[in-house]
Amino acid sequence: MTAATLRVAVLISGRGSNLKAILDAIAAGQLPARVVQVISNRPGAAGLQLAAAAGVPTAVVDHKRFADRAAFERALEAQLAAEAADLLVLAGFMRVLTADFVARHRGRLLNIHPSLLPAFAGLDTHARALAAGVSEHGASVHFVTAAVDGGPLIAQFRVPVRPGDTEDGLAARVLRAEHRLYPQVLAWYAAGRLALRADTVLLDGLALAAPVQFADTEDDDA
Ligand code: GAR
Repeated sequence: MTAATLRVAVLISGRGSNLKAILDAIAAGQLPARVVQVISNRPGAAGLQLAAAAGVPTAVVDHKRFADRAAFERALEAQLAAEAADLLVLAGFMRVLTADFVARHRGRLLNIHPSLLPAFAGLDTHARALAAGVSEHGASVHFVTAAVDGGPLIAQFRVPVRPGDTEDGLAARVLRAEHRLYPQVLAWYAAGRLALRADTVLLDGLALAAPVQFADTEDDDA
């Protein structure tokens, strides 16, 4: 008997290109999962249309309509309860979640961040990477904990920073990396290969001493 298909809820705030990469990987048979709902905290998020076009139910929980984070998260939890997904995937979700929310979903809540964490937590990662003069940049997927952008790292995709790179050019290179990284990590989770025990990431039952590393080859980045 095959394992039940992983049921995923995706939380977005905007464009939704990572959501699209996940939906594409599922459609291509590379990710045995089903996106059962997409929730945005922004009513105008383009990713909502993308989800609807793929036949995925969508909901908006507009943070501006709530007095505080706790009230916003109660509404978010109510939406999530409607589907009771196995895994919550943050894909460009730009609200900080409270420690209570994160604790309730511990081990079942993933995020992607556009830097090689712990470098450049927070916003404007590409501009900051360029200003710092680093030779490598990239994306990280991690389990979410109360430490913003600080949860246990699962995998990273490294890309080179090239001489003369602009912020837009670098952002595009990192985004392509994200689109390869997130479906891969989700496939591990869907296959039951990935877990969080205390603050340690387990892959195939073994503690990761460091995040799994992927890198671009020259050819991939023409
Ligand atoms: C992505 O680059 C993602 O890593 C980043 O927002 C972008 C969303 O793009 N997330 C964060 O910065 C979270 N701290 P998308 O909507 O096209 O997937």
